[in-house]
Amino acid sequence: MPSTAPKTPEHVAIIMDGNGRWATQKGWPRLVGHRKGAERVKAIVRAAPDLGVRWLTIYAFSTENWKRSTEEVIGLMGLFARYIQREAEDMSREGVRMRFIGDRSRLDPKLQDLMHWIEDRTRNNTHVNLTVAINYGGRNELARAARKLARQAAEAGLDPDTIDEAALSNALDTQDIPDPDLVIRTSGETRVSNFLLWQAAYAEYEFTPVLWPDFTPEVFSEILSRYGARDRRFGGVGT
Ligand code: FPP
Repeated sequence: MPSTAPKTPEHVAIIMDGNGRWATQKGWPRLVGHRKGAERVKAIVRAAPDLGVRWLTIYAFSTENWKRSTEEVIGLMGLFARYIQREAEDMSREGVRMRFIGDRSRLDPKLQDLMHWIEDRTRNNTHVNLTVAINYGGRNELARAARKLARQAAEAGLDPDTIDEAALSNALDTQDIPDPDLVIRTSGETRVSNFLLWQAAYAEYEFTPVLWPDFTPEVFSEILSRYGARDRRFGGVGT
């Protein structure tokens, strides 16, 4: 049976790694690497639709990243807020729909307000979907989903026997987002790091030595070509 999977991934998820090393190699503070990383986000979001990618999910801050220095954490949070404010106009004009996944409750209320504001403002955009994972961890997301379903069972008459894979998917932060076809990690690390554990069950993985601040649309396009050569079988026998 010929593979019916499209040759371009509809949804690409990216673990943007290497900002710190990129800056350190140049003798600059780590935050300079994150700032350059934010510029790369914009370039990749802009390039994605022309490369056939309509959904992008990026790992911006994990549930483990709170262990970094206060200076770096505050710097990153400021960068997220500024990105939303600065890019709102361009994203509206260019048809970018922005969403967030992760546990928002620990984030600064002002950042939470900005996140809701941009989600609302870009709600009707359809050109490209950008989902940013902030205070996100796959295990944390699954635990929150389990709590949500348990509460519905205890308080709202949900029958535990009806909790199947679809019900769990619907309780996740990604309920209105398709599963990723391809997960890319930059900087030569080959770990999953708690990213989209449930959703990436059948995803392909690509690892590149390129550090995130050097990740250009050309590098992205090259990785997408490699993906196009793969045969995805989803547990079947394939060609
Ligand atoms: C990993 O590199 C990167 C992060 C933890 C932060 C990612 C954030 C950005 C790219 C900033 C912009 C994002 C948005 C949405 C505006 P690292 O610091 O772990 O690098 P290292 O492994 O070399 O130290």
